[in-house]
Order: sequence, then C-alpha cells, then structure tokens
Amino acid sequence: MNKGKIGIGIIGAGNIAQNAHIPAFLKQDNVAVTAISDINLERARDVAQKHGIEQVVKDFNELVLLDEVDAVSICTGNSVHESATLAAANAGKHILCEKPMAMNVAEAESMLKAVKENGVTFMMGFVNRFRADSKVIADLKDAGKFGEVYYGKCAWMRRRGTPLGWFTNLAKSGGGPVIDIGVHAIDLTWYFMGRPKPVSVSAVTYDKIGNYKTKGIGRWVALDAEDIVFETEDSAAGLIRFENGASMTFDVSWAINSKNTNFYSQIYGSKAGARINPLEIYGEEENYLMDSTPFVYEENAFENQTGHFIKCLREGKEPICPVEDGYQVQKMLNGIYDSARLGREISF
Ligand SMILES: NC(=O)c1ccc[n+]([C@@H]2O[C@H](COP(=O)([O-])OP(=O)(O)OC[C@H]3O[C@@H](n4cnc5c(N)ncnc54)[C@H](O)[C@@H]3O)[C@@H](O)[C@H]2O)c1
Repeated sequence: MNKGKIGIGIIGAGNIAQNAHIPAFLKQDNVAVTAISDINLERARDVAQKHGIEQVVKDFNELVLLDEVDAVSICTGNSVHESATLAAANAGKHILCEKPMAMNVAEAESMLKAVKENGVTFMMGFVNRFRADSKVIADLKDAGKFGEVYYGKCAWMRRRGTPLGWFTNLAKSGGGPVIDIGVHAIDLTWYFMGRPKPVSVSAVTYDKIGNYKTKGIGRWVALDAEDIVFETEDSAAGLIRFENGASMTFDVSWAINSKNTNFYSQIYGSKAGARINPLEIYGEEENYLMDSTPFVYEENAFENQTGHFIKCLREGKEPICPVEDGYQVQKMLNGIYDSARLGREISF
C-alpha cells in the first residue's frame, strides 16, 4: 500500500462505529476516515458531520467503489458482515470486520473465499487480543514460559446483561451470548493456547430467563431497539477438544442467577499457567510455587487493534487475527449451537 494517507470507509454508523472505531481511526497518523454508510442515512449524516467525514452514502455497495476508500471497517450488526465483506473484497478493498465474523459457518466460508480470491487483507476485530495484559500472555507463551499449554478455561457471565435490540433476534444476530460475548472469551483463550485445530465440541445452551424488568442494572442498547424479540439462548457452557489433545471449557451468559463473573481467560501449561482479568502468572521457581503479576499500563485495545490493522496494510503483513482465525472461531461457535441442539458431542 502507498505511503500516503490511507482512506477508511465505515460501514454501519451505530454504537461501535461511533464510540470505538471512528475515534480509533482518527488517532492514527496518515489515516483519514473518508466515507461512511448506513441504511439510516440521517444517522450516517450526523456521525459524518461530527467527525468531518466527507462522503455519506446509504448503500455500502457504493461506498466500496469510492476512490478515496482504501479499506473498510464493518461495524453493522452481524447479519450484514458477510454481504459487506463480499462487496469490499470484490472491489479490492481491505477489511476490518467486527466480531463475530458472521452468523454461521457457511457465511464465514464465503467470506474466506472472497478474501482469498481477491487477495485483500481481512482482519477480524478480536479486540481482546490487543489488550495490554493479553499481549503479555501472548509474549510469554511465544517465549515458551508455559511449556505445553494443554488446557484453557474461560468465562464471561453476566447476571442480567442481555442487550436490547437486534442482538436477541436470531435472524439478525445468529445467536445469543455465545456469539456475542462468548466469542471474545473463546477466541482469546484459543489464541493463548496457540490456535490448535478444533476437532469436536460438546455444549449445552439454555433459554430460561429471556427478557426481564430487573431494576438497577445497565444494559447495552442497540440504536434501533424497537420490536424486540427474545429468541436466543441466555446462557451456555461446554467443552472444545483440539487436534493436539488440548481442550477448553467455557461458561457464558447474558442472564443467569449467579454472581457476575467478569470476563476471564486462563491457560494451563506444563511449566506454568496464566490468566487475565486480573493478569497473573502461576509458576514455580527454585522448587517454590511462585505467582507473579507483570506490571502493564492499561491501553486502549481498540486503538491498538486499529493501529495494527493500519500497520499491516502499510507493510503488507498478515494481521494477527487473519480471516482463517475468524473462520475457525465461527466453527467453534456454531459447533456449540449444533451440539446443544443435538444433545451430543459433535465432530468437525
Ligand atoms: N468488539 C466489541 O467489543 C463489540 C462491542 C459491541 C458491538 N460489537 C459488534 O459491532 C457490531 C455492531 O454493533 P452495534 O452495537 O454498534 O450495533 P448498532 O445497532 O448500534 O449499530 C449498527 C448500525 O449498522 C447499521 N446498518 C444495518 N444494516 C446496514 C447496512 N446494510 N449498511 C450499512 N449500515 C447498516 C444500523 O442502521 C446501525 O446504525 C456487531 O457485529 C457487534 O457484535 C463489538
């Protein structure tokens, strides 16, 4: 890619675009947010005016053809990730895509194919890989500090935190907490484990709470939160097995009657273990069990993610969250749904 300014087109002008992606792109050197599209044109215009974005279009098929757009950031709800990726890839534009990659494996597969055929860079927005504490664990793992990592465990359990809007509409989201927040925990743990190939999943999902009128809680509200239906699971748990003999267990919920469990990811190696949130290393030195807490300043993971995307475009490098990772994670997510539906372990 040229050394001049990189032009970014934002697809979807909702919450994540306004609060995370646009501010993060605006902080990068030699990058301009040149265009924005949203089916809600008024929203796109408002956001464009606020951030000085020159081109506003309703249809992303038009946005991807603009000369001033070198790459797009896909910030729509999940049901549009596939069509927006196909449009951008076929127009030769690079892509940063919000999680989850898609609503199902078939969509993820068609995205993978389009990206490969067109030779564009596609990066998954697995933002938790860009946390300061995650980077420490990834570095220590690469340095061999943990030995063989054979087990992982993760959770993100909200007691009452079901988002309002398209998230609970199956046709628009593809799933509930598994695909919405489980994706973060499962991806990060899998990344820490060295991305082994998944071979089977055994999982359960429950839909026992649905909507509620609980007072004194905060909820993520999508910008178009009318006509809400509650069609997805509200909790899930399971076990994923990998080709190298390693495995991972997970617990996720939007609503469950237990304490909130903050997002955490823990790995267990033959030499040492580690977890984030909080960051801790569980080792042994001179025959003593030794826990340590590396010191890191908190960083803005969205800014780190965006900076990495831009660096990869400039240097022609593959991102640390390539399209193949999105596809493998999608297989695990949909494997969870398939296993729960069939009531047995499923193999890939
Ligand atoms: N990484 C994270 O931590 C994180 C957090 C929240 C949301 N997300 C992801 O970001 C995505 C968006 O979530 P959100 O909360 O911002 O949703 P949102 O509902 O607030 O915004 C989505 C926007 O997309 C627009 N849109 C819908 N169809 C479109 C189309 N065909 N073309 C252009 N625009 C279209 C909508 O009008 C809306 O403005 C989701 O995939 C979600 O999973 C990620």
